[in-house]
Amino acid sequence: MQPKSSIVHLPVYQPGKSIEEVKRELGLERIIKLASNENPFGCSDKAKQAIQQEIENASLYPDGAAVALTEAVAKYLDVQPNQVIFGAGSDEIILMICRAFLVPGDEHIVADQTFPQYKHNADIEGAVTVEIPLLDGTHDLEAMLAAVNERTKIVWICNPNNPTGTIISQAELERFMERVPAHVLVVLDEAYCEYVMDDSFPDSMKLISQYKNVISLRTFSKIYGLASLRIGYGIGHADVIHLINQVREPFNTTRFAQAAALAAVQDQAFIADCREKNAAGIKYIEQQFERLQLKSFPAHGNFIMVDVGRPAVDMFDALLRRGIITRAGHKKYPNHLRITVGSQEQNEAMIQALESALEEDKVTS
Ligand SMILES: Cc1ncc(COP(=O)(O)O)c(C=O)c1O
Repeated sequence: MQPKSSIVHLPVYQPGKSIEEVKRELGLERIIKLASNENPFGCSDKAKQAIQQEIENASLYPDGAAVALTEAVAKYLDVQPNQVIFGAGSDEIILMICRAFLVPGDEHIVADQTFPQYKHNADIEGAVTVEIPLLDGTHDLEAMLAAVNERTKIVWICNPNNPTGTIISQAELERFMERVPAHVLVVLDEAYCEYVMDDSFPDSMKLISQYKNVISLRTFSKIYGLASLRIGYGIGHADVIHLINQVREPFNTTRFAQAAALAAVQDQAFIADCREKNAAGIKYIEQQFERLQLKSFPAHGNFIMVDVGRPAVDMFDALLRRGIITRAGHKKYPNHLRITVGSQEQNEAMIQALESALEEDKVTS
């Protein structure tokens, strides 16, 4: 057998330990998972009811075109239904974009510390990755632009950026779009956009109405609290969405995901509440970091990246022993942990554990 040469070096995704496993191994009663940027407040009750009602139809294939959901989301965003495409998470939209646009030898441009699935999927298609260093944790749009050539097919901009949480502004993005050549697709991954409070954050729908070569990716996994159902979407020019639809599997999103997402998008009161609580959580955590003399990047999503002043993997272990799961292992930032903003109770427990781990370190060093 001869697999594609582009995949033989790829690692198989290693899931983290389950909460149950960690509890058993460490003999802990309570585990708080602040590792995957899930919504600590769950999802809308209306979404839960919609899933239950859909149970009766479990034996039937879903609507492959997700017509009702597409209409509801298009209405919410004030775009046309043919400008929206759904995937099994925005992960699948990233996969479909790579499948539709990249052939071996094409180039794509990506930040050196960002969401890994852009490079992963581009690797599978045999594309050449051009990595541009983040500047102070932020996309360096000038350097990204300078790296564009006639082989460049895609530029990925994660906004807010995972894992740093930083944003680029409307003005910066406008200047970038004015100069980027029309043959380059600019992918704005806005998985966390609903959390952003900063007024300078780009209005990507406006850019989509101006430029054909820009697409925004959104998800129901984060603020909508539906990560287990795997549903996300892309919004762009109808012609670009059509191209991506050409590589889409016929029934790529489930009935339960479609029903829940439809109810969830119509319950914006739940979203507004989560957004407020998340902003209060960030404020609390930033104040506590200041007290503990820890530096963090400006947080605009539902996570915060903090410099713990020692190898982050050691601090990860120390927090794990105290029942808090965080995320370490960022190649550019070996001393930084990415921590999801939880409920107030979870945030307080996290800070308590962090303070105790820092104290322990002082005593033992
Ligand atoms: C920046 C970013 N994009 C996309 C995703 C994928 O989300 P999903 O596939 O659950 O929609 C994530 C998930 O963590 C993310 O952080």
